[in-house]
Amino acid sequence: MSDLHLSIAAAKPVFWTNPFRNRENAHVVPAHFDGKPIGMMAIREAHARFKRFAPLLSELFPELKATQGKIESELIPLAAMQQAMDLPTKMGRLWLKADQNLPVAGSVKARGGFHEVLEIAERIALHQGLINIGDDYRVLGQPKATNTFSSFQFAVGSTGNLGMGIGVMAAALGFRAVVHMSKEAKVWKKERLRNQGVEVIEHSGDYEKAVSLGRSLANADPLCHFVDDERSTSLFLGYSASAFHLHEQLRNRGILVNDAHPLIVYIPCGVGGAPSGIAWGLHHVFGKKNVHCYFAEPVQSPCFLIQMLSDAKSHPSVYDYGLNNCTEADGLAVPRASVLATETMRSIVAGVFTVDDSSLFRHLQLLQTAHALKIEPSAAAGFAGLPWIKDDVLACPGATHIVWATGGSLVPGHEYRKYLEWTQVI
Ligand SMILES: Cc1ncc(COP(=O)(O)O)c(C=O)c1O
Repeated sequence: MSDLHLSIAAAKPVFWTNPFRNRENAHVVPAHFDGKPIGMMAIREAHARFKRFAPLLSELFPELKATQGKIESELIPLAAMQQAMDLPTKMGRLWLKADQNLPVAGSVKARGGFHEVLEIAERIALHQGLINIGDDYRVLGQPKATNTFSSFQFAVGSTGNLGMGIGVMAAALGFRAVVHMSKEAKVWKKERLRNQGVEVIEHSGDYEKAVSLGRSLANADPLCHFVDDERSTSLFLGYSASAFHLHEQLRNRGILVNDAHPLIVYIPCGVGGAPSGIAWGLHHVFGKKNVHCYFAEPVQSPCFLIQMLSDAKSHPSVYDYGLNNCTEADGLAVPRASVLATETMRSIVAGVFTVDDSSLFRHLQLLQTAHALKIEPSAAAGFAGLPWIKDDVLACPGATHIVWATGGSLVPGHEYRKYLEWTQVI
């Protein structure tokens, strides 16, 4: 066993740089997964689908009126956080991609979840003659469409945030929705889903068990679509489409991205779908030499990292390392990574680092003090990568560092106060 393996097994924070990155012949980047296209055309198509549905979404969700149905998040400068973390400006500037405030479902998982619900709704609507290509999709908010949708169901296994995205969008269009969750998942997430008319089924065991039981129950029902967090290209492309908006945001702020101005992005990783989808989109939109994506995992749940350290044939779980998969970062508490995520990222992800819970809470609290921004523990994972990269050649005055905050606006006040007081609780 190498020192790295020993540190992982001892649940110590580690930083791994991907030796296969950009080695032309090391790994051919796939253009398909499970026979479905995931290349640039497919990313553009996902982006176009969001645009087609925007007029309908702005009618269904009052909070989307102002953006005419666009579901996007701010890019926020974090000068005070950079100072509070003792990160010199000579390493570049720090920003937050504020997906914690993503409208309607308050997390990065909504990007993928919304896309998959919209894709299936569009397919059903075209098939049933409710719309034709080029129509105004607002007709899908009318009773004829919602009545049709009500005979179909979405099912998903989730740590919470994906369920929220699927549940809210499915219900708004008239579908039924079932979310399979682990008994250990956050109580407030289950309550919120139930309050929104979503059926929540609790399973003993972890997230992986909930997904697998949900999949087999759904497969028995021909009118049920199972959203597969471990293999769905539709989710993946929904995350990838975020790259277009980020491109626009950087351009509007006059921020260059090129060799001398690298874009360095830090993204929390659970099963891997969201971070790999985002990294995939960024890689296609900004070019592989200019963007460097690092994934952040809890020390007890480094499933993506251990898969990257294994050959493609094996599919290890964190339990094989003697780890317990227990962390306050509930969205990241996943024992085994998505194969779609690891296969697409093998020669793209710049590296992976692991984070202990105390570091999550320290950064969550610092962000509140420095910028009055509220995020959940999972969403704070990216910050721990900055000190590792501080002295790297990539960290230069022209660099732009983006920490992707992946959730938090829906956390109830009483729960968030516990996060702010966390060091006093233990
Ligand atoms: C807040 C938050 N951040 C990050 C993630 C990680 O996404 P993925 O599981 O697709 O890697 C999740 C997953 O649910 C999440 O809820």
